[in-house]
Amino acid sequence: MTMQNRLTVQALQWTGDALKVLDQRQLPEKIVYDEYKDAEGVTEAIASMRVRGAPAIGIAAAYGVVLSVRKQYAQSNQWRKKVAADIDMLAKSRPTAVNLFWALDRMKAELANQLENPLAAMLACAEKIHADDLAANHKMGELGADILAGAKGVMTHCNAGALATGGYGTALGVIRSAYQRQRINVFAGETRPWLQGARLTVWELSQDGIPATLIADSAAAWLMKSGAIDWIVVGADRIAANGDAANKIGTYSLAVLARQHGVKLMVAAPTSTIDWTIENGDKIEIEQRNPNELLPACYSEKGSLVSAWNPVFDVTPAELISAIVTERGVVLNPSEHSMRGLKNAI
Ligand code: MRU
Repeated sequence: MTMQNRLTVQALQWTGDALKVLDQRQLPEKIVYDEYKDAEGVTEAIASMRVRGAPAIGIAAAYGVVLSVRKQYAQSNQWRKKVAADIDMLAKSRPTAVNLFWALDRMKAELANQLENPLAAMLACAEKIHADDLAANHKMGELGADILAGAKGVMTHCNAGALATGGYGTALGVIRSAYQRQRINVFAGETRPWLQGARLTVWELSQDGIPATLIADSAAAWLMKSGAIDWIVVGADRIAANGDAANKIGTYSLAVLARQHGVKLMVAAPTSTIDWTIENGDKIEIEQRNPNELLPACYSEKGSLVSAWNPVFDVTPAELISAIVTERGVVLNPSEHSMRGLKNAI
């Protein structure tokens, strides 16, 4: 079996009457799947980051709508109202990844058209969102690997892998495809404070037999100075119409450092991550999470003079990005103008 056909680790599994979610908070020590049978459970799974990563959040929410229809359709003739309330609840689970709202909008549109057999139609729509994302990842993998031809080393940040998507990954999909063509040195930043790089990325790559070297986030500048990497490859949570890209906190710092050191930055993301309604990244809502994710327990006591600021995404301006890779094509040196070319091609 080629690496591309091999089944990478799965964040989400539909069982026929429930959604199984791999609890990413427990990785890599424990592989535990939780089973959800209603939209409330799926909302909590997203908010608590059992499932995380922009495309995976959207896919999980789509299955959440299926579970809602399944429950409410059988119970009440007011079911459409109740499903609409569940969709609103799912939409409030996390604010930054636009894939969440994109997937919910698709499910809403499908529901509006279904009078006869809504459950079957909604499940088909969620499964299509899931399958299309996986196919998009493979396409991006090939396009991104073309660009990385000849590169000796790459660095990634956070986890934009199979765990964060329908499978295969965006940034890690590109790295997987590139590694298949030629051995390439892969570095991953720890990604404080939640440690997606240390707990998820290097583990996920090792599951696929791809060696990776973990670095402290603060070692990135020194790594770039050493000449070991040619590219930084990351995913995105929301890309504005001018190419500004929101991704895990720390991506912006890497982009600034990359420019200083002649390293290039690639953002790999499906077109479902592009928010054409906002002209630039200033309009992207940046999620602030609980300071306790950052604060050592001794400081979280009442009366402590120590607080924490915990924005979990930042926005990298388009001018610091060398390439945005989507399943519908590559935008080099993104700008409002070049992004419009992609939009017109979709
Ligand atoms: O807070 P997270 O772990 O959901 O953040 C995830 C990221 O920032 C990813 O890089 C992004 O969602 C792309 S995943 C393909």
